[in-house]
Amino acid sequence: MKQVIFLGVFAIAAVYGLYNIVNLYDDNMRWGRMQETPAVRPHEEPLLLMEEGTVPFEGGEEQIRAALADNTIQAPSHHTIEEGRVAYQVFCSHCHGPNLDGQGTVGQSFTPLPTDLTSPQTQQLTDNRIFEHISYGDKRAPALASTMSVDDRWAVIGFLRHKQAGN
Ligand code: HEC
Repeated sequence: MKQVIFLGVFAIAAVYGLYNIVNLYDDNMRWGRMQETPAVRPHEEPLLLMEEGTVPFEGGEEQIRAALADNTIQAPSHHTIEEGRVAYQVFCSHCHGPNLDGQGTVGQSFTPLPTDLTSPQTQQLTDNRIFEHISYGDKRAPALASTMSVDDRWAVIGFLRHKQAGN
């Protein structure tokens, strides 16, 4: 009988200890766990709604691509940092990380790893080059032209510049 009680107490202590170790690991881990990221099932709210006018009835992606190639496109100046921050959280942070250091949860399984967006190399990229990169992708970086509105893409670049300036 004594042995059974001892084993029982031991088992409870072991489970409790294990539970604490897992918690300690979670609290101090560099990246979040995949199962903790929000999942949106088909037809479930909140769905990301496309902005009105996203389907081009004039202009369109081909013209933007051509303007980028000729460098005749200008970043609009009316976007706020806040718009960029929101767009970054929706479209970039799972790969590039909430601190823009390339350490997002999803991106850690990629080769090459997502770029540190505060690095000197990224700071040297022109707005147009970053716009092109976001729009049409590269290696493991996704092409987001059909996912993000043109405004969101420019707004994200404004937010990147804001953070790169040390804010
Ligand atoms: C699915 C993961 C993923 C998402 C989402 C993502 N990126 Fe990336 N990004 C990468 C990877 C991986 C690289 C590095 C290598 C490459 O070019 O494929 C990269 C590279 C970059 C670079 C460096 C490009 C260069 O020429 O050096 C910039 C700038 C960048 N991403 C910006 C963004 C922005 C802004 C967003 C959001 C609009 C975004 N990325 C969304 C994975 C991602």
